[in-house]
Amino acid sequence: MSKTTFYLLTDTHYVSPQIWVEGDPINGRERGDQIALKATPQILDAFFEKILADDEADTVIFTGDNVNSGDLASHEEFRERLTRLTDAGKKVFVISATHDYCGAGDDENTFGACRYTETGTEPVPFMRKAGLFDFYRDFGPKQAISVHRESRSYVVQLCGGVRLVMIDDNGNGRSHCGLFADGMAWLKDELRKAKDDGDFVLLATHHPVLPPWDVFRHVADYELYGGYRELMALMCEENVRVVFTGHTHVQNIRKFTDDAGRSLYDVSTIAIANAAGKMRRVTVDTEAATCDIQSIGIETLPGETESSFEQLYYLNFPGIVEKMLPLGATDFDAFLLLADWMVPKEKLQKHRRLIPFACRKLQKLSVSTVAKLGGSWKTLCPAQRTAAKQERVTDVLFGVLRHIYTGNAPFPPDTVENVVVSALAARADRLVRRFRIEAVQKLIPPGSSLCEMAQDFLYNTRTGDDDAICISLQD
Ligand SMILES: [Fe+2]
Ligand SMILES: [Fe+2]
Repeated sequence: MSKTTFYLLTDTHYVSPQIWVEGDPINGRERGDQIALKATPQILDAFFEKILADDEADTVIFTGDNVNSGDLASHEEFRERLTRLTDAGKKVFVISATHDYCGAGDDENTFGACRYTETGTEPVPFMRKAGLFDFYRDFGPKQAISVHRESRSYVVQLCGGVRLVMIDDNGNGRSHCGLFADGMAWLKDELRKAKDDGDFVLLATHHPVLPPWDVFRHVADYELYGGYRELMALMCEENVRVVFTGHTHVQNIRKFTDDAGRSLYDVSTIAIANAAGKMRRVTVDTEAATCDIQSIGIETLPGETESSFEQLYYLNFPGIVEKMLPLGATDFDAFLLLADWMVPKEKLQKHRRLIPFACRKLQKLSVSTVAKLGGSWKTLCPAQRTAAKQERVTDVLFGVLRHIYTGNAPFPPDTVENVVVSALAARADRLVRRFRIEAVQKLIPPGSSLCEMAQDFLYNTRTGDDDAICISLQD
């Protein structure tokens, strides 16, 4: 019987300092990608410091989007950094995803490797998908007990009794990111072999098998693991309880149970380059038959005193909106500078009077006003009414937005905020139905409603905690 502890990092989106200089092009790209691209080397270093200080953990795995745009300089620096881990005695296993290579024209991968100059971009040498296997051969394939060469997937023995299948992001770029038929046949064979040997199996791949919210599957099914239904059925059939994923940059742990009562967990991890980025620390205990998962972030970047969250938060969409709102009310020109990445300045200029007015009104709007609007005011007790009068709508809005990426949203059903928003959403549902507002109707998954969808964003409707769980590998 044995135990193994490993770290999992995903969506590192490493960007070499060689491929950018300060200016609008790199800053625009950073805002568009919603992650701290320029700080990725320091962020990765800070995470590595924590890993290197942990003697219990002997393995580190990376589940793709290791670099941001497939350029060779970033790949070389990223790989160089991996050797810090291997030099310290850690085993390192890597798989790749769509950001790690540039398409050859015969797929749907449109990433272009470039250097960001002060005024634009210029092309730089890049990685093709076919080159990834050899480039990262020392970080997985070399230690593997089985390799599926066509998809670059492989199996490693984490310790006696535990195997990890690293399923690479095969497929044709974006619309199918998963194994094809021969890859699935290989996977089935590997699961059978593990079963014959009495080993537990964990899976890791880039694209999620379960979406963070149902609306995600409804509007962006193609962003999930290609062939996720087949993979889920196989996992249930073979009692593979856990798949580790990334890609959405949303911290979440979801459970799926099939009609026969068999279940699996998708443990999807936030990008480390998010302001509140985290890695997973996973311990598998074969005697207890458990997979214990914790999450660890960084407090500060190397050489900095301000918290990394404070430094990086305003790159994320919620942070930008949080910053924009007061500017919209008081300093329209500064507001324009920030808002330009979402709506062109020229369009916003036309509303020079309306926008400051609307921002001031929104800042003052209390939750009690929305409660009256949504029809929930009468259902609130005196203490809840007092709280609703004191709380601003923007507090609730930013409370929700701040948890989009980080998970664990703070408004469960017994809170004033949940009662008020749910009633408002229910009223909106009735209006959408009555006036047949198709633009909204097509966003709502079959059998769901705005009210039900809102719950996914108000509190943790998943497994209760997006940061930690202990999963039984046996039942
Ligand atoms: Fe990513
Ligand atoms: Fe991705």
